[in-house]
Amino acid sequence: MEVKAEARKYYEIDCDALVVGVFEGENPNQGSLAEIDKRTGGVLSSLIETGEFTGKAGENAYLHNPGDFRARRLLFMGAGKQDEFNTDIVRKIAGTSARLLRSKKARTFAFLRRSQLPIGESACSATEGALLALFDPDKYHTNEKNENHLETMLLATTEGDADELMRGVDRGRIIADATNLAREIINEPSNVLTPSELAKRAEEVAKKHGIETEILDETQMKEFGMGALLGVAQGSAQPPKLIVMRYTSKIRSDETIAIVGKGITFDTGGISIKPADGMEKMKYDMAGGATAIAAMAAIAQLKPPVNVLGIVPATENMPGGRAQRPGDVVRAMTGKTIEVINTDAEGRLVLADAVAYARRLGATKIVDLATLTGAVSVALGDVYVAVLGTDQTWIDQIIAAGRKAGEKIWQLPLDKEYRDQIKSEIADIKNIGGRKAGTITGAYFIREFVDDTPWAHLDIAGTAWNENTKPYLSIGPTGVCVRTLVNLICE
Ligand code: BES
Ligand code: ZN
Ligand code: ZN
Repeated sequence: MEVKAEARKYYEIDCDALVVGVFEGENPNQGSLAEIDKRTGGVLSSLIETGEFTGKAGENAYLHNPGDFRARRLLFMGAGKQDEFNTDIVRKIAGTSARLLRSKKARTFAFLRRSQLPIGESACSATEGALLALFDPDKYHTNEKNENHLETMLLATTEGDADELMRGVDRGRIIADATNLAREIINEPSNVLTPSELAKRAEEVAKKHGIETEILDETQMKEFGMGALLGVAQGSAQPPKLIVMRYTSKIRSDETIAIVGKGITFDTGGISIKPADGMEKMKYDMAGGATAIAAMAAIAQLKPPVNVLGIVPATENMPGGRAQRPGDVVRAMTGKTIEVINTDAEGRLVLADAVAYARRLGATKIVDLATLTGAVSVALGDVYVAVLGTDQTWIDQIIAAGRKAGEKIWQLPLDKEYRDQIKSEIADIKNIGGRKAGTITGAYFIREFVDDTPWAHLDIAGTAWNENTKPYLSIGPTGVCVRTLVNLICE
């Protein structure tokens, strides 16, 4: 779908549908709404007077032959309370309208801007919202695909604002395309998306956007002594890959940010095998890795003035005659020994070697993302991503970037006292910390391998998969944190 600026008066825009946001409690006889109401012949005021439409977020009213408009339909969208309006509501309104109008077989639709938000930001959010909403994970349906006739979204503006608006649209498209790329990769079944295939996709992305990649194979992992990653991988017939993507800023910078994403292309649990019920969902255990790859795609296009590494330890976690056993002791790249109590706590094992490798490659700051623990859903549900880390400034920046992106991130503590839970009798540490504070002990384990490099860990196990369709989002992978990371790195 194309997104264009349209400098005509809203009632002169030729389109299938014109979308107009209305605030909760807004008076249809005052201000700009009065003119719109008049053009509908008073239909808007009667919708409001009868209480059929109040402007609450999520409400809508859809009119055919709406009156004195070039548009053939009018879609009023509830925009919620005026003083609570923000870019995330723009995203949701744009997304809901796009999905609704797609189902009404519209080809072109236009948005009337009725808020005081900066035009670039609001255009960026509207573009993101619409493009994210139109993604559907239906690649493998051979029929029953969602019919989509949408060709163009028009953003009403004035002549003077068109450049700023289009800059917002371009950024919104880069970010939404990256997020949808992550969703597409996450949604792939594990028989298609093996570690080698994930590496291939990363290489394709890098090539397309002109950045470097390096894929480490098993032999190289052995040379580096990556015993934690190799221990997880040894149970699988699929060879593991350590994917490294590298964006180098044209403007010299001493800063190298590493985005490290968990890339378990299928998590059976290994010998500590998971129950059958729901196990199919464990194809999304590479969501952190896909997010890192997708964020690199956007970063390569937005060209921030810092160097960025995308690092994905990719492997399956399988049971079998060669699989690692509970009780095994492995040695990570840093030399630290790990007692593997539960082979299902494999994410932290592969990340241990991946964050160490990030440091070796010169990372000055690390952010890792992982579908690491079921416990994060118990703590925060599917609403908040958990962040934990060693550097409060870095954590605060991540939370702020999330807020701007419309992604909620909540910090959990990581005090020294929690380390007791991962003490081992026979090795330096063990890979699980018992029933209590599972998300924290999981993060603490990774902390043991980052040393003094400023580091933050995002646990996206509760938020990377949407269980129910929302008006602005399909069921399935959400691509959570792509937007946060891009906002974090590309101001
Ligand atoms: N990939 C899982 C975490 C997970 C669980 C993600 C449910 C999404 C939904 C991870 O590898 C895992 O199995 N973690 C264990 C850790 C435990 C053995 C300490 C968990 O959370 O149960
Ligand atoms: Zn697991
Ligand atoms: Zn896992």
